[in-house]
Amino acid sequence: MEAGEELPIYHHLGSIPRKRHVAFRREDGALYPEELLGNKGFVGPSSLLYHLRQPTTVKSVRSFRDLRWEPEPEGALRHRHLRTLQLATGPSPILDRVPLLFNADVALSLVRPTAEDDFFYRNAQGDELVYVSEGEGVLESPLGELPFRAGDYVVIPRGILHRWRLGARPSRLLVLDSAGYVRTPKRYRNEHGQLLEGAPYSERDIRRPERLVTRDETGEFRVLVKSGNRLTEVVMAHHPFDVVGWDGYYYPWAFSIHDFEPKVGRVHLPPPVHQTFEGDGFVVCSFCPRPYDFDAEAVPAPYNHQNVMSDEVLYYANAEFMSRKGIEYGSITLHPDGLPHGPQPGRTEESIGAKETNELAVMVDTFRPLRVSRQALTLEDPGYPLSWLGESE
Ligand SMILES: [Fe+2]
Repeated sequence: MEAGEELPIYHHLGSIPRKRHVAFRREDGALYPEELLGNKGFVGPSSLLYHLRQPTTVKSVRSFRDLRWEPEPEGALRHRHLRTLQLATGPSPILDRVPLLFNADVALSLVRPTAEDDFFYRNAQGDELVYVSEGEGVLESPLGELPFRAGDYVVIPRGILHRWRLGARPSRLLVLDSAGYVRTPKRYRNEHGQLLEGAPYSERDIRRPERLVTRDETGEFRVLVKSGNRLTEVVMAHHPFDVVGWDGYYYPWAFSIHDFEPKVGRVHLPPPVHQTFEGDGFVVCSFCPRPYDFDAEAVPAPYNHQNVMSDEVLYYANAEFMSRKGIEYGSITLHPDGLPHGPQPGRTEESIGAKETNELAVMVDTFRPLRVSRQALTLEDPGYPLSWLGESE
């Protein structure tokens, strides 16, 4: 197995033929069209799908919208605090994502959708890793239904058509668009691909599509395809969720941050122990409620650090974070390469002797510098770069 091809788990739903690539017929004798849905052509992780109709029946195509990721005007390098709590976004889980931070490897956006889309969506440009900060619902795809709830990471490998079906509660989604394949870290797996005993989660925690709903409908069905930072509208002649069965390793999946088992040491353990996902050019870590380091003299707050060749982003999924002051639920901080950072004044002393933390946060560390979007500037807390001034520790 090559690096980057670590898999979730083999899965199948519905009816599939005894062997691949043999005639598989409906009761009326017609063939079920077979389709390979796979990363890296024919050599990456893939699934084989059996449709009611050809997946190629396009009625029309047109350019729909350019997706502009505009950086802020050049400014001073500084630590950032973006308050996203009150960020107003439009109703669509796809079209109304507000760009915040980005580079060529990964792009972060935020959306608070209030309505379901009347189209289907396929990202042909990147894998999507969506942290569900609030809300619940079902991610629909031709591979079945994947229920999600607050605290879930929903992983949608590129190329998988889908639609977000939202529950009644308000939703808040942090979206990572990844140029590389989003996977579980290689160091968590044995040479056969199974998650190791010492990994902070296991296959049981990975949720797969559950219920396959085969839609047998003809008409006009809009699909928006993202490619080259542009959305193209493709109108299909039949409902695209017409799969009667599939099997393989390529499907959307979910993992709850609440199923991440944090590691604790006698003294402070560095952020890589919180790693949850790996992409190309970035990692994602989960900071979860846990007891603190257990040596009587341990300093649970992190030491100052210079994150050389790494930009650090934190999304605060609740209002508590042991080393930070002044953040709130929904805050995002960016500590860029070039400037050391550490706990805010008082936080280190306060942490000594404390027994536990209830913090919940998603960290994205990128290995190449991030740009800040024009929209993100409007959310910036201007006092943050100077927030380390104050009482000496
Ligand atoms: Fe840091």
